[in-house]
Amino acid sequence: MDARTPLIAGNWKMFKTPQEAARDAAALAELVKGVEGVDVMIAPTFACLVPVAQALEGSAVALGAQNMHWETEGAYTGELSGPMLKAAGCSHVIIGHSERRQYFGETDETVNKKIKAALEAGLKAVLCIGETEEERDQEKTLNVLDKQLKDGLKDIFPGSGEDALVVAYEPVWAIGTGKTATDDQAQEAHAFIRKVLAELLGKDLAKSTRILYGGSVKPANIAALMSKPDIDGGLVGGASLDPETFSQIVKFQ
Ligand code: G3P
Repeated sequence: MDARTPLIAGNWKMFKTPQEAARDAAALAELVKGVEGVDVMIAPTFACLVPVAQALEGSAVALGAQNMHWETEGAYTGELSGPMLKAAGCSHVIIGHSERRQYFGETDETVNKKIKAALEAGLKAVLCIGETEEERDQEKTLNVLDKQLKDGLKDIFPGSGEDALVVAYEPVWAIGTGKTATDDQAQEAHAFIRKVLAELLGKDLAKSTRILYGGSVKPANIAALMSKPDIDGGLVGGASLDPETFSQIVKFQ
């Protein structure tokens, strides 16, 4: 198997006040201090970015945002740009999460613009893709993933080996439901994703790009997921909110 450093990322979604987020980020940093061979990232709400960046000062835990706009500035009420996220201390940004697609009109086209802008701003882009239950029942999973990758990554070449691009496979039917994809279901999707990445970005970048699994990741299932050759980490929602629980996922090895 190609050596890719695992990445365990926490998507805190719309939870925690800035004070709670800073407290929990500091607690997590302490709990994972000295853990080697795995990268850790947390993505709080926009309101929490600066206090969490301060709480993570000196720790190896990276800071991410949950979304961004593709313009660098302008009359876009409620939005933040890549340069602003970078200035706030972010190294990563989650783009195209299914909740953004479901509730806020995110499309593969806007995802594409955002990934380009993220890379231009020097951020690592975490591209979220995944099928709905209906699409899986209709055996359209691979078609959906193929389209989301090809449209989302159109005209994007993140540069080989810079790990500027991360892909997160998040089957929508497993998000927040407690229904985790089986290890084999996840591995099948991840292997397909890596195949499509090779077509789009070349073999070397496909090999070095980390593909995370997201969808009811817990301490009880992370080790089995990580035993699969094309699963390079997790994008964790609910189980990332408690520092102790999330640290157990980080310490899966
Ligand atoms: O982005 C990760 C998230 O969608 C997964 O949520 O609560 O199923 O771990 P959860």
